[in-house]
Amino acid sequence: MDYETPQFFRVMQYAQRADRDVVDMVSGNPDWEPPQALREGLRTYADGEPAEFQYPDSVGLRELREEIATRRGVDIEQVIVTNGAGEANHLAMAESLEQMSGDEVLLVDPVYPYYAGRAEMLHADIRFVPATDRGGLDPADVYEQISEDTAAVVINSPNNPLGVTYDAETVHELVAAAEEHDAMLVSDEVYDHFDYSGRFESALSVDSPNRIVTNSFSKSMAITGFRVGYAIFPHPDGPNGGLMDGARSRHMLTNVTSSRPAQAAVLHALRNTDPSYYEANRDLLRERIDAFTDALDAAGAEYTEPEGAFYVMARFPGFEGTMDNVERLIDEAGIAGMPGEAFSDTRREWMRFALVTPRVGEAADRLAAFFDAR
Ligand SMILES: Cc1ncc(COP(=O)(O)O)c(C=O)c1O
Repeated sequence: MDYETPQFFRVMQYAQRADRDVVDMVSGNPDWEPPQALREGLRTYADGEPAEFQYPDSVGLRELREEIATRRGVDIEQVIVTNGAGEANHLAMAESLEQMSGDEVLLVDPVYPYYAGRAEMLHADIRFVPATDRGGLDPADVYEQISEDTAAVVINSPNNPLGVTYDAETVHELVAAAEEHDAMLVSDEVYDHFDYSGRFESALSVDSPNRIVTNSFSKSMAITGFRVGYAIFPHPDGPNGGLMDGARSRHMLTNVTSSRPAQAAVLHALRNTDPSYYEANRDLLRERIDAFTDALDAAGAEYTEPEGAFYVMARFPGFEGTMDNVERLIDEAGIAGMPGEAFSDTRREWMRFALVTPRVGEAADRLAAFFDAR
């Protein structure tokens, strides 16, 4: 499987060229409003002094790092502001491979394709740990694969593409596995505001020099275009402290720094957004999940019970999740999803649908009608 060329674009282009109206369930771009305070922050920024339009600290605006550190209960020296969780994951994986003893990265199958593409780009050996039948991750399966060759175990909860959330016991055991094998647990928590199960546990709840937590405001504030994320590394003055030093250099030499207006707007939004903003978005997603899974039930599909994030992965009887069938669903039903093969060799029969469109109800009706007619 070639993970370096994401298939998102191929499906989206096919859908755009289609001869009919298509509901886009391919990408993970939120379709709802950002916090009001984010727009305010941007407007205020536009009227600032020229000095405020110049380079911020390479590691990020100090006030934003302070705000993040306070909210996450860590020292400010552990926080680096990045160009989204994408860069945070890159720094975490690259530095683990550089500084930990192994050359291997453990990923979960099915995988968020950018992890696998990045591991390939970094010339890491990749080992996949299969998700359980219900979509979770069994630490015993990780223990089976992890070894002194492992530099990093990369997890994502709430999960893309399966929509599951890992519980506290799982996260704690995964940190312990990393500690025992001189590896880093890289925990991508970009969907942490979208947990419907109440089970989500941040890896930050375990105090350990063997974990890196990555996150961003792309999803929580519906601003994937802003590119503001962060990584929380082990303290630079403690064990594995060199990873933060390495990440700072890598970030600076690649980007110089991250966009200042975007950081300033996020800071303003963090300080001035009521928790009800996030709750309303969760409620919206819950409604969409109900509508879509009802249609999947009607179509006789098997699916992973959505507990978090924006995605549902499903398998339809007699209709495998190949690219050909994805194209058929676009042409004949007017719904664009992602083929299972984009995420996994073992879930080739599945398809993933992103629920970030106001047209989920319509998609559900189309899906039900398409499978009813077969
Ligand atoms: C699991 C996961 N991590 C990271 C990202 C990228 O996040 P960002 O926009 O903050 O780079 C995504 C985007 O879809 C994602 O699904």
